[in-house]
Amino acid sequence: MRSNLKRSHVAVATLAAALLAVAPAAALDSSGSSGAAPADSAAVKLPNVVILCTGGTIAGTGASTTTTVGYTAAKIGCDTLVDGVPELKKIGNVRGEQVYQIASESLLNEHLLKLSKRINELLKQDDVDGIVVTHGTDTIEETSYFLDLTVKSKKPVVIVGAMRPSTAISADGPINLYNAVLIAGSKEAVGKGVLVSLNDQINAGREVTKTNTSTADTFRTPDLGMLGYVQDNKPHFYRTSTRLNTADTEFDVTGLDSLPQVDIVYGYANENSIALDAFVRAGAKGIVHAGPGDGSVGKQMVDPLNAARKAGVIVVRSSRVGSGIIARNGEQPDDKYDWVASDNLNPQKARILLELALTKTSDTKAIQDMFWKY
Ligand code: SIN
Repeated sequence: MRSNLKRSHVAVATLAAALLAVAPAAALDSSGSSGAAPADSAAVKLPNVVILCTGGTIAGTGASTTTTVGYTAAKIGCDTLVDGVPELKKIGNVRGEQVYQIASESLLNEHLLKLSKRINELLKQDDVDGIVVTHGTDTIEETSYFLDLTVKSKKPVVIVGAMRPSTAISADGPINLYNAVLIAGSKEAVGKGVLVSLNDQINAGREVTKTNTSTADTFRTPDLGMLGYVQDNKPHFYRTSTRLNTADTEFDVTGLDSLPQVDIVYGYANENSIALDAFVRAGAKGIVHAGPGDGSVGKQMVDPLNAARKAGVIVVRSSRVGSGIIARNGEQPDDKYDWVASDNLNPQKARILLELALTKTSDTKAIQDMFWKY
């Protein structure tokens, strides 16, 4: 296993070293020209980038070099992950830190709080220019939005994962990590909110979603598109997310040890209220209804949702469709029922915002404003 890992990293390292021999340290060329090396690369000050490792497939191992499913996520430690890409040292002063080691389907609110607090601590330091978080891809979209709302700094934060384990032929982890460090150390990424980068692409943490169970191009921003690419040893941005993020939000996780419980009720033909009622009985403070279409709600679900609302639970209408805006008072009279529309957030992202909103208020008008704003 270990020798497989070494072999795959060595192969990638050799290829990357060859590329860097042609264009070293070009990440620091902010001229907008191609990634050619500065004349005196020794004079260039490298950015200080901390790599926070949390597990996932990028730290996964398989039984053989051709194992790309059925592998074990979250096996490789942070130092091994970082040392496996020696090219990182040419583009940044990098150091790794293991924050936790999990497959990201097991991500809990405690993990999110711990990660956000650690990033905020590090970014307060003058000697930290940017952060990279290595993460399982399954819930990257939740973590990226949570950090986008709770990191209190304009310095770059880039989340990266991999779709193939570190032991696989053509493992995508090393190049994805290399690109993430390039972005995190770049001036171009300052003030752009939390970013997600895989497959040479950069997406906004608020907007990105996983769209394919297993392919390397799984991360997309439906309809709106990605922010840019990484090519030629530098990030190329073409647009930014317009919503308030990071230092401009009202959310602050300092002093928080837990978050209000918010659950997702999935809408489907022949839907019943068994799950909803159980969530409410178990103490949910908020429910995101992932309805079909434009956040539609079946007739049989309206009374149970209104009963939940009367019991103090915040009800957010979202959609299982995967893109588009929920029209407030469109499919349902939200004003009359005192429900909230999720704007264009998918249910899993709406859940993150509602949890944070509930740390500030339980006023539905204020919460609706947050959904328009963030
Ligand atoms: C995980 O999310 O931890 C497993 C899947 C992946 O990283 O691609």
